[in-house]
Amino acid sequence: MNTVNILGLDNQRTQTTLASLQQLLADFQVYYTNLRGLHWNIKGPAFFTLHAQFEKMYDDVAAKVDEIAERILTLGGTPENRFSGYLRQAEIQEVSGVDTADGALRLILETLQTLIARERSILQTAAEANDEGTVALMSDYLREQEKSIWMLNASLQA
Ligand SMILES: [Fe+2]
Repeated sequence: MNTVNILGLDNQRTQTTLASLQQLLADFQVYYTNLRGLHWNIKGPAFFTLHAQFEKMYDDVAAKVDEIAERILTLGGTPENRFSGYLRQAEIQEVSGVDTADGALRLILETLQTLIARERSILQTAAEANDEGTVALMSDYLREQEKSIWMLNASLQA
């Protein structure tokens, strides 16, 4: 018996959720490497604060990458692990050369906007499939990221 049947989920609907979770995984992987770039390259008076902040953020994203991959496995899928595969699927673009506080915070804000849109759509697909586990994961991410957007917006006000 396959895992999805044991979980009592509809196989076809779960395939749709899996495809969108794969895309989310790809987006988070690209976001992770972008955050490492920001952590390394940031310059200016806020260096110490932002350098540390970006490290916290990429650690958080690394944990989410693992959660998403393991959710894919839980639903009977196989998470992509090749970066070439991520780049084919990701909506978020690789970025280099961002070294200002303003540029970095705006990049993060835009990235979160993309992630939130994808997570809302996954949440809806998963809800239609009665996949409460995926719904709960997406709603946790949404709540955290919505708060981050408030904070980023506040820090960008002059
Ligand atoms: Fe470091």
